[in-house]
Parts: sequence; structure tokens; C-alpha cells
Amino acid sequence: MSKKNRKYPTKDPVCVTCGLPSASGKMHVGHLRTYVPADVFVRFLRKMDVDVTFICGSDTHGTPVLTVAEAEGLTPKQTYTKYHNHYLETFPKLNIFFDNYGTTDDPENHARTIQIVKALKENGHIYPKDLETPYCDHCGRSQPDRFVRGTCPYCGADARGDECDQGCGRYIEPGLILNPRCAVCGNPTRPVTRTHYFMRLSAFESFVDKFLREIDVTKSARNYALGWVKEGLKDWCITRDLDWGVKYPDDESLVLYVWFDAPIGYISSTEQWAKKIGRPKEWEKYWKPGKGRLVHFIGLDIVHHHCIFWPSMLKGSGYNLPDAIAASGMVKIEGHNFSRSRGYIVWIEEEYLEKGLDPDYLRYYMVSSTSQTKDLDFAWASFAEKVNNELVATLGNFFYRGLHFTKKHYGEVPEGTLDRKLKKAIGDTIETVIDGVNENELKKVSDAILGLATVGNEYFQANQPWALVKEDKKKCGEVLYNALSLTKALAVLIDPILPSAAETVWKQLGLESDIHAVQLDEALNPLDFGAKLGKPVPVISKIDEELLTELQETTYARIKAAEAAQKGETKEDEEVTEHDPVKEAISFDEFQRVDLRIGKIVKCERVPKKDRLLKITVDIGVETRTMVTGLGHLYKPEELEGVTALFLVNLEPKKIGGIESHGMILAVEKLDEPGKWVPVKVDGVPPGSKAA
Ligand code: MF3
Ligand code: ZN
Repeated sequence: MSKKNRKYPTKDPVCVTCGLPSASGKMHVGHLRTYVPADVFVRFLRKMDVDVTFICGSDTHGTPVLTVAEAEGLTPKQTYTKYHNHYLETFPKLNIFFDNYGTTDDPENHARTIQIVKALKENGHIYPKDLETPYCDHCGRSQPDRFVRGTCPYCGADARGDECDQGCGRYIEPGLILNPRCAVCGNPTRPVTRTHYFMRLSAFESFVDKFLREIDVTKSARNYALGWVKEGLKDWCITRDLDWGVKYPDDESLVLYVWFDAPIGYISSTEQWAKKIGRPKEWEKYWKPGKGRLVHFIGLDIVHHHCIFWPSMLKGSGYNLPDAIAASGMVKIEGHNFSRSRGYIVWIEEEYLEKGLDPDYLRYYMVSSTSQTKDLDFAWASFAEKVNNELVATLGNFFYRGLHFTKKHYGEVPEGTLDRKLKKAIGDTIETVIDGVNENELKKVSDAILGLATVGNEYFQANQPWALVKEDKKKCGEVLYNALSLTKALAVLIDPILPSAAETVWKQLGLESDIHAVQLDEALNPLDFGAKLGKPVPVISKIDEELLTELQETTYARIKAAEAAQKGETKEDEEVTEHDPVKEAISFDEFQRVDLRIGKIVKCERVPKKDRLLKITVDIGVETRTMVTGLGHLYKPEELEGVTALFLVNLEPKKIGGIESHGMILAVEKLDEPGKWVPVKVDGVPPGSKAA
């Protein structure tokens, strides 16, 4: 990225928000896919001297809170207070610090929501219309949104009233769900007619189209949203027949739909911040049209609300528009779609923090595992691997060896000059870091910083201070001066990702300033001679086998228990299907690049010492090839030998278990038996036949 194209650093004030967690459940690993990168992003902006305010809060309304409150036998307010307090306490434990964390039930949010409804109405964007919505005679009330389930009108999957949660992921307007049944008692509902209020979203179509093309939004989110615009935007029902929520000003027997007042929480939480700092009008620098930049960090599941509804609401009521929408990929757990009911979930409090695990490790894992826009497959084994092989072996090791050795032989920072090559490496890393922040690719940032630590380890190794100290103490001092200056640079650079570790290293270097306030450029300033060093202790420690097993067992046990519980339930109500949302569209040309052919497995054998791997020899017509598959824990070699199936034959060759695999057998995971993969067998077709 050329420096000219960079958006950051900037003199404009920036307000960064994170999707408001629903105060109806505890924090789990999935949440951190948004909150950690946003916090890291904010910390990097601060290190570039950007004026930034970081805003979040609890979403307290709607059927997500109501259904949980009913299940827990509490009032909605008791429920949200409990979870709101949980979030308030837990974020800081993860080194995530918002400038304000309010709730959507705070008076500021009620007032701001009503002001926006009135402004939209005055501008002609709201009108009343009669609508048929589900009513449950058995429960004796209207059952909107999560209180009803039925068939998704778009993809046919079983869905919630307002969201196709197990199929295509689309937003569903009230009244559109097919075959509705009450989610509380299971009885079919019947339609009742009453007057609701609609926002004229259809009139915002060309605005949204232009907005999406101009703003800085992650690619897949833009494509999804442009796809919806292309289908035509329908007017949006913004009221619900419930008691809980922000009362609709013209008819107090209705409340606003939760997705109306929730994002307004971004504004009201900023207003609370402004009051708190004693400049009550300060929120306007972000939210009134002007130079202020709004950056929303969200998950891919709430793109519709942030790319369609929200900008239209802001536009229609005269507020500033988002400058950027960063939509992160979702989190999978041990290879499976995130699912509370199936046990594919990892709770932050009990299963991470209470095990004594350092929050910095999880922060590192969240930003460094994969590109921000891709799904992240959380697995304890890969977590431990990243901590042990990257954080400990590369970074922690470099920190400790230099500090420990220097403290022992010199006690203070020895004299030296910063080596030109090292200085250049630091300068280059700073540039890559700034690029990565601009591209919202924090993996690029963490990889660059770890790369610099590798440079440090190589420098240390090449100069052998442990030998040099005996021969030439002055020269050895030079080397250590360089190693410690690099340590300082690394501490500055890694601080946004590992704030606790960086702070400790800073003190060990004898530095007294607040590292979190230190700017990126400071990484290029070498240390002062003679500064007294603190006590060196390792700042990152390994996840040992025993702990890893304990962590895995907790997760596996929950999955097993959930499976057992579901098997019991299935007998009664035959539906457990959980479908992946359909992926982003690819072009026909892209599809044509995929070469699928029929192959026959002529030989199949185990890969020594690898339970999951099988080496297969496959006749694909044009030739006979070697491939490696991960089906070894499911099939004996003799079960696959002789099988004719579908293969992807132009997958880039890859070494798996030490063997070069050239292609891939296609298999499907059974929906009713997660973890069970069956090859796509095709009988009666000769090897080499092509699929399209
Ligand atoms: N509570 C919603 C969810 O968990 C997110 C609300 S984001 C906001 O999906 F924009 F509405 F605030
Ligand atoms: Zn009912």
C-alpha cells in the first residue's frame, strides 16, 4: 500500500464501535472475533496519535432478552442487568477497554431513539399500515420474531421469525415466515391484523447502493448487501406488538423493533461518554455530518442491519454516515459451526479466564490465526500450538534471553550503537504494521511483528553473546545493546495485541513511561545507556500437555452431552438440522476453474503413525495419482479400496503427513451425524469422467 492511499494516521476524529452484545447470555469465544480486533485497531490508532473514541454497550431489548428472561423466570430488566454486569466485568479482564459501555435501556437511548423516529416521520419516511402477524391462542399473545419459528421464505430452512438462523441467514420481515408455530408452546399460530409502522426503505435503494460502493466495507459484506439491494429493498416494519422495548411515540401499545433502537445505542453511548468527560456536546463531532469518522466492527451475521437499515436510518434523520464497516468472519469450534445447542461453544469466563489463562494469548490467537474476513476455526490444539511455537518460542524467548543475559552480566543497558540493518528491519516492520491497520488485516500486523522477533533471534544466535562475553565484554555489550533496543521496539509494536506482556517487558527494560501511550515511532529510538534493568522473568509461558488436555476435555464433554441430549429430543420432534449459510456467490468462470473428475481408488493404505490419514492411489483416467485423505479415523483401508468417487483433481499439491497429495476426494459430512464424512460415491461411471 502506498503511503498516499493510507487512511490512517489521520487528523480527523474517529469513533470505533463494536456490535452491541445482546444482554441475554454470557460471553463466548465467538464474541471475541469482533471485540478483540476492534480493541487492537483502536490501540494502534492511538499509537499513531489519532483522536479515537471506542464505544460499545449492551443490547437489552427484543425477543433475545425476553425469551431468556422467561426461561430464567426473571423480569427482562433483571435478566439484562445480570448479563450487562457480566460484560462490564469481563471486557476489562480481556484487556478490552471501551471509553463508554452503556445499555440500550438507558434514558439517553430511549430519548435518542424517539428523536430519530420523529425526525424520520417529519421527513416523510414513516407510514402506518395494517399487517398480519402471528398470534398464539394457547399462550394468549402476539408472538413476533424469536417467539415464532417456521419455514424460511427464501431457502426453506427452519427459521426464527425474523432471521433464518439455520439456513441462508437472511433477515425476515414480520408476516413472511411460512408455516409459523409458537416457539414457546409449539402450537401453530394464527394471523391477526393490526396497524404497524413502516420505514420507507424502498425509497433508500439508490442511496444504499451508492453508499455501499463508496464506503470502506469488507468485500463479502459489500457483496451480500449489494445482492439484497439488487433484489429490491422492501419497506421495513419497525414496530412490534410487545411490552418490552422503546415505546413507539404514536402508539404506546407498540414498541420499536430491537434492530431499530440497538444501533442507536452507538450514538447514545457516545453521548454518555461526552457527558462523562465533561464536554456534553462532544458526541456531535462524530454523529453530526462533518469530519468525524464512524467505524463499525461487526460480525458477518449482522451485515443486513448495518449495511441497509442503519445507514438509511442515519441518512433519513440527518446524521453522519459510517465511514467504514469491518465485518469479520464467524468462529467455528473444533471444525464445527458455532452452536449453543450442540455444545460447539467455548465460554470465556469458566473455560478460559478461570483456568488462569492469560487474556493476551487469546487476543493473539484471535488476530493472528487467519485473515479478519475469513471464518476462524477455534481449536484448543491450534491455540496451544500458536502460544507455544510462536508467542513463547519466538517472541517470549527473544525478550527473555536478552534481558536475562544483560541483567546478569551488566545489570544495566550497555553502550552501543544501533546496527543499520536492525534499524531498517524495525522501520520496515513499522510500515507493514501501519499498512495492516489500514487494510484491517491484523494478521499481517502480527506476522510482521513476529517476523521482527525472528530477526532478533537470528541476530542473537549469530553474535553468540554467551561466548563473546568471555572474550570481549565491550563488544558483547554492543550486541546486547542492539538486542535490547530491538526488544524495546518489539514491546512498542506488540503492545496493542499483548498489552500485559508489553507492559511487563517495558518495566524489565527499566523504562518508566506508560507504554500504552507510547507512539509507534518510539520503536526506532534506541535505549539510553546505563538505564538500570528490572528483574527479568519470562512474560509468556507454554500451555503444557496437561492443561491442553483439560481444556479439550471440557469442550468435548459438552459436545458429547449436547449430542446425547439432542438424540433424546430428536425422537420427539424430528428436527435437528443445522445448515450452513450459503456461501458468497462465485462467478461461472470461477466455477469453471474447478476440475472435478471421477476416480477409482486402486490402492489404500494407512500413513504410519497418523491415525487420521490414509494414502490413496487413484485412477483418474488420464493418470494414476497419490492423494492423502483425512478419513483414516472413519474407514479401514479395505473399505475404501475399489471405491469410485468424485475427486477435485486440480487442487494445488500439498504435503500431508510427509506425503505429497495431489488432489482431494470429495466427501460430505452427514447433517444428522456431525463428524461422519462419506465419500461422494458414483457407480457405473468410468474413471476420468468429468463433473460440472
Ligand atoms: N445484539 C445484536 C446481536 O447480538 C447486535 C446489535 S449491534 C447494534 O446480534 F448495531 F445493533 F448495536
Ligand atoms: Zn404458544
